[in-house]
Amino acid sequence: MRYLGGKGKMTQHIVKAIDDCCRGVESILDVFGGSGIVSQAFKQRGLRVISNDCLYFSYCLLRGITALNHAPSNHSQLLKQLNDIDCTNLRELPFIAENYSPNDGIGRMFFTHQNALKMDAVRQQIEQWKTIGAIDEDTYYYLLASLISAIPFVANITGTYAAYLKYWDKRAHKALTLLPCDVIDNGKENIAMNVDFAEVLKTPTDIVYADPPYNSRDYLSNYHLLETIALYDNPEIKGTSGVRVQRREKSVFCSKRYVESAFETLINSCSSHYVIISYNNEGLMDSNRLADMCRDYALPGTFVLREFDYRRYKNKIPNNNAGLREQLFIFEKR
Ligand SMILES: C[S@@+](CC[C@H](N)C(=O)[O-])C[C@H]1O[C@@H](n2cnc3c(N)ncnc32)[C@H](O)[C@@H]1O
Repeated sequence: MRYLGGKGKMTQHIVKAIDDCCRGVESILDVFGGSGIVSQAFKQRGLRVISNDCLYFSYCLLRGITALNHAPSNHSQLLKQLNDIDCTNLRELPFIAENYSPNDGIGRMFFTHQNALKMDAVRQQIEQWKTIGAIDEDTYYYLLASLISAIPFVANITGTYAAYLKYWDKRAHKALTLLPCDVIDNGKENIAMNVDFAEVLKTPTDIVYADPPYNSRDYLSNYHLLETIALYDNPEIKGTSGVRVQRREKSVFCSKRYVESAFETLINSCSSHYVIISYNNEGLMDSNRLADMCRDYALPGTFVLREFDYRRYKNKIPNNNAGLREQLFIFEKR
């Protein structure tokens, strides 16, 4: 999935940092799991993975893909049933169709009405199967992960759900299709969590990998629709994009005022021997300050900073990104 600050194109460098700098490691904590793409690479590397994110839709991806070693045995049949679902007989009000697709030409243009109705029908069916005990918890999250992964392919947006296009992109006219998820078997007991970063740091692992937000763009506002489809909680919404009325503070990593103390908490509280942090040189936290902080907590001589040219990881390069560098801060904790 395309994700703000997603590290899909950095995974080989992150895994190489582990190969080069970490000895005898078996487990890793991915504190800010996001799309789950980095956790997938950790599983591929044979590490036991604990993956966390404060957003529920991200948790569904982590719980339904990362935490599993096998797809549910009847997944093909269930996905087929969901893809062939009848949208004319819904159990509840179609919240997505009513609020995020135009009916008779009026309404927000995030999805075509047909696709939005199908999202409602599929989401309600998955919940119904869970309620009557027809599917177990692994299958529930696997199906939610498949639904969430399918949405960006039919969304009438340029990247995030902060706004919709005022004309129909051809992608929006494709039919919503749930596909099998890419479940990797690493033979280990992987875990997904849905808590604040400060809480997950107590979990003991050999390595902590942290890829926090680096600017003030709030993930909940940008991915509000995925969150609402995952929670399916008929929230109070507002504004032209129908964002959820937020009842929680922005992430401390999205605030210039709190970001330094957030990094201090992250590094100070983690109980692993190895620490790897992804950041970039234009984040809210000054890179030199972050490097100094890492050195303060590092065993002497273990701190390494690796930098990568951002342009190599993007197809379209806005000129103002010319000096942007992805960074990996790696050290052994005292
Ligand atoms: C840069 S993204 C991670 C991207 C991920 N590595 C990937 O490649 O897809 C940062 C993530 O941190 C999560 N996040 C922000 N504040 C958080 C907090 N206080 N506790 C836990 N997760 C948080 C966001 O929801 C977002 O998914």
